Amino acid sequence: MQAKIAKLKAEIEEKLKTRETGRELYELKMYFQSALKEIMSGMKDLAKEDRPAFGKIVNEFKQGMEAEFERYAEIVRKKEMEKKYAAEQVDVTMPGRKYKAGALHPITLVKNQLIDVFAGMGFKVFEGPEIETDYYNFTALNTPEDHPARDMQDTFYLAEKLLLRTQTSAGQIRVMEKQSPPIKILSPGRVFRSDDDATHSPMFHQMEGLVVDKGITLCDLQGMLAEFAKRMFTSSTKVRLRPSYFPFTEPSVEVDLSCSECGGKGCRLCKGTGWIEVLGAGMVNRRVLENCGVDPDVYTGFAFGMGVERIAMLKYGINNIKALFENDVRFLEQFGN
Ligand code: PHE
Repeated sequence: MQAKIAKLKAEIEEKLKTRETGRELYELKMYFQSALKEIMSGMKDLAKEDRPAFGKIVNEFKQGMEAEFERYAEIVRKKEMEKKYAAEQVDVTMPGRKYKAGALHPITLVKNQLIDVFAGMGFKVFEGPEIETDYYNFTALNTPEDHPARDMQDTFYLAEKLLLRTQTSAGQIRVMEKQSPPIKILSPGRVFRSDDDATHSPMFHQMEGLVVDKGITLCDLQGMLAEFAKRMFTSSTKVRLRPSYFPFTEPSVEVDLSCSECGGKGCRLCKGTGWIEVLGAGMVNRRVLENCGVDPDVYTGFAFGMGVERIAMLKYGINNIKALFENDVRFLEQFGN
């Protein structure tokens, strides 16, 4: 019996030294307790008079070992903490990880710049729906069915009278129906046309402007455009109006800006003309005002519409519109802001 205890004591003490974790220590304790139980179960085989002495020995042994387990609990805890600290050690001299920050897409950039420029002139933003009725996109804009001008834009129809808007001009009607003059709104948004080549995309962005009040003239339009050209491009950018046709404006104009590349001398970008066409505009057609319940004998107005991609291409010298939609990071990175 005594020998068994001594052997167990030696074994446990040896193992205690090599315990690394609380779990290992716990398992050893379980082992110790069951071994002790077995030793104690031998008590019944002893002579009655020997039992008290043996009981005392076992008890002392048990208490002694328990104290040892407690002492090692602290030792193992320290070992574990040290390991944890070593594993979590931070090398403060290590260089940091580089991370790539996102940036605004050039279309968003230009759109925001345009809104800034016009907001500075007192325009308020109105956003119309992308799915429009035939009425708002065409009919109310003085382009009834069978009007040849409908062929100017290849339209995606969703149903007989429902379409993807081909122009933000549809917003003009929505605003004038709800609001009475004075009106000064800017309407940015996506538009859709069945058109696809180096300078056209089936989805692109437009920025529409509408000003309606008493006494608005073509001179106001020209003055505002001159200011816009200076603020959006350079202070020496000039504006030229050429007669054109849109069903919803009369007279209508095509607006050119002096070429930012050559300053008007003529180069590849402006195809030798010194001018670059950037937007369509005109005085709001009387019929359109009437369609919206605005009295054309009291009020006049002008409207303009430009392609955001076109402005972005001119501003950044991009020659294929597809670059704006491919999301090639090498291209987009250049606009890091
Ligand atoms: N909506 C015309 C277009 O998409 C542009 C425009 C807007 C012309 C407003 C005149 C007035 O081509």
